[in-house]
Amino acid sequence: MVKSAQLSINGNTFELPVVEGSEHELAIDIGKLRGQSGIITLDPGYKNTGATTSAITFLNGEEGILRYRGYSIEELAEKSTFIEVAYLLIYGELPNAEELGKFQNAIKYHTLVHEDIKTILTGFPSNAHPMGVLSSLVTSLTAFYPESLDPNRSKKEVDLSIARIIAKLPTFAAWTYKNQVGQPVNYPKNKYDYVSNFLYLMFANRAEEYEVNPVVARALDKLLILHADHEQNCSTSTVRIVGSSHASLFASVSAGISALWGPLHGGANQAVIEMLENIRKDGGDTQKWMDKAKDKDDPFRLMGFGHRVYKNFDPRAKILKKAADDVLQALGVDDPILDIAKGLEEVALKDSYFVERKLYPNVDFYSGIIYRALGIPVDMFTVMFALGRLPGWIAQWKEMRESGEPIGRPRQIYVGHPARAYVNIEKR
Ligand code: ACO
Repeated sequence: MVKSAQLSINGNTFELPVVEGSEHELAIDIGKLRGQSGIITLDPGYKNTGATTSAITFLNGEEGILRYRGYSIEELAEKSTFIEVAYLLIYGELPNAEELGKFQNAIKYHTLVHEDIKTILTGFPSNAHPMGVLSSLVTSLTAFYPESLDPNRSKKEVDLSIARIIAKLPTFAAWTYKNQVGQPVNYPKNKYDYVSNFLYLMFANRAEEYEVNPVVARALDKLLILHADHEQNCSTSTVRIVGSSHASLFASVSAGISALWGPLHGGANQAVIEMLENIRKDGGDTQKWMDKAKDKDDPFRLMGFGHRVYKNFDPRAKILKKAADDVLQALGVDDPILDIAKGLEEVALKDSYFVERKLYPNVDFYSGIIYRALGIPVDMFTVMFALGRLPGWIAQWKEMRESGEPIGRPRQIYVGHPARAYVNIEKR
């Protein structure tokens, strides 16, 4: 097996160590290259750069494989629960009954949020995008728990912060929604499991009794499992890099929420539904929109298609396509945009533009259709993604802190003006 690589620059050869992962992936370690040669590597968008070694998630984009701590996403989605998966990601192993019970209780104990949060919440205009509100509320936790700012706390104290944020994120998310629609907020109910409590917080109103629909709860639980981690993506890298400055867990997760918001990342689930709706209103001509996506002079992209890492299929999209059929059928929902989505996929899978570029549906292509069937409003879709991704962000933050990673600080190649003398304003 390869143990080192040689790099020849202007006749000088440098020996570089090769690191091998547990699935035999190889990386050239260039950490000391600049010290030896004065040269750095350049890779905008980190397309071919490993930022860390990690034992949390394995992803093989060529073969469409995704595993959390060694367990396949297909098996976890079918047999596990979101809270169990959260424990697995954060603490490394599936919990036994006692560990799971303790973890669930710790989370239930912290679902309430300080009443002053309401003052912050109602300070936002009701049309504020929920992702901006969520990010602000999460960062406000640093003010309510100032002790969490200390990066060198004991394991017990870090675990407390972890339980707090997992417990409070559904409350924040649902309260954000209630503020948006002008309804009074609901308080968490500990008789419910994690997902049912969230559904209650979102959808119960004082006028009538609320009953959790088990089909909706199971579908949401599965969606959260599928989103729980995805190794070094944009938002997770953000969480790790913010945390690498020894910023607190709450501050790091808040930054991750902002990174997730963009339409090229988690915001794509909202963009997909808006796109499918536009196609429907436009008469449903999928070919016309495919042509727009292929036209380099048109900024339109087929949202929910393509992935930086998956170049064959996204295993999460495969599970979700089937789940969309099952959930809509179980709930008796007939959504015309599901047919438009399937039509688009069918055309794209045969189209040379998409085939040559290895563009396939990603996790966001079908997730929005399910959220919509569950009654989640479109601008809350990315918030749902954040709820799902939270355990991954926590696990990655914890791993980074525990392995004592240095501060993340990329280099650059400067391409601006050479040194020049200051010009007084009257001479410019
Ligand atoms: N529609 C049309 N063309 C596309 C699409 C798309 N959705 N995605 C990529 N392409 C084309 C690009 O124009 C480019 O073509 P070219 O080689 O002729 O210039 C080629 O495919 C490669 O695309 P890049 O943008 O270079 O690939 P990159 O890895 O940087 O981007 C990304 C990946 C951002 C996901 C991209 O595919 C995209 O914008 N998809 C739509 C947004 C989306 O669904 N995002 C969610 C991703 S999953 C997640 O984050 C949870």
